[in-house]
Amino acid sequence: MIDFLKNIFVQPITAKPTFDFPEAAMEEIKKINRHTLQMVENWIDEDAFKQSCFNYGVPDFIKTEINKPIGNGLTYTDLIQFISQKHFEKINYFEIGVSVGKNFLQVVNFHNNGQFVGFDIEEINPVMEKKFNFVESEEWATKSKSIKKSPSSLKTYKFKNSVVKYLCADVWDEQSWAKLQGQKFNMVFSDALHTPKAILFEFEMLVKYNLLNDKFVIVWDDLVGKMQNSFYKIIRKYDKQYNIKDIYLMNINGWVGQNEAPHTVGIISNFKL
Ligand SMILES: C[S@@+](CC[C@H](N)C(=O)[O-])C[C@H]1O[C@@H](n2cnc3c(N)ncnc32)[C@H](O)[C@@H]1O
Repeated sequence: MIDFLKNIFVQPITAKPTFDFPEAAMEEIKKINRHTLQMVENWIDEDAFKQSCFNYGVPDFIKTEINKPIGNGLTYTDLIQFISQKHFEKINYFEIGVSVGKNFLQVVNFHNNGQFVGFDIEEINPVMEKKFNFVESEEWATKSKSIKKSPSSLKTYKFKNSVVKYLCADVWDEQSWAKLQGQKFNMVFSDALHTPKAILFEFEMLVKYNLLNDKFVIVWDDLVGKMQNSFYKIIRKYDKQYNIKDIYLMNINGWVGQNEAPHTVGIISNFKL
């Protein structure tokens, strides 16, 4: 009953529908991103796919599109570059759900000097891994209840002046989040399980392990249906602690650009974007 009344009397949260994107800056960002995509002719490594848990989250209808030109429409990757270039001297980026690395490689290649962590249940796509210089690797046993049956790992690479890390583990396995302790991310992109429960859990982990920078932006992909309830729940629960200043919900192209319908993306920041 109390919950029911709370729901009736809570202030509605208003999300803005788009940014005032400066055209010249966006054209430059798009040029760099599409150039990065051309660094890879074929994102699919069939051997890696055979050994994967979920085919890297690439359903058949996306697999046929994954290597096609994405077109000139704005993508969530363009958006991430725009925000990070405008607001951060140095990016400390965290992507939850990397898949074959289309978005991740574009973000890494855009910046000359940054820290980048990708988190996925799949092993790093060998196609992307070839672009990085291997530094070191750590391995540990995956918790027994996980659908991931092989060991989890954290691999470190160098790319230009940046440090790139790849955490191969299950989002539901808390010990993998503990490995990130000490990181302070200013840009987080959540694009893994796309379930209301999972994005709440991810946020709890970001809070528990103190992984957010003083100034941060979080972007969620595919915020449709009940995912939006979790988005608003996070805002309501953490507004006081983090002083959330900006909230957006917008439709924008995703990893295959013009070759599929736009995605609904949610954004929060603890400063004015
Ligand atoms: C939609 S894809 C990510 C696309 C990528 N962000 C991009 O834009 O190029 C989702 C990814 O989440 C990963 N994933 C799904 N469940 C997971 C889990 N329990 N733990 C870690 N990663 C998971 C899948 O393996 C898949 O690679």
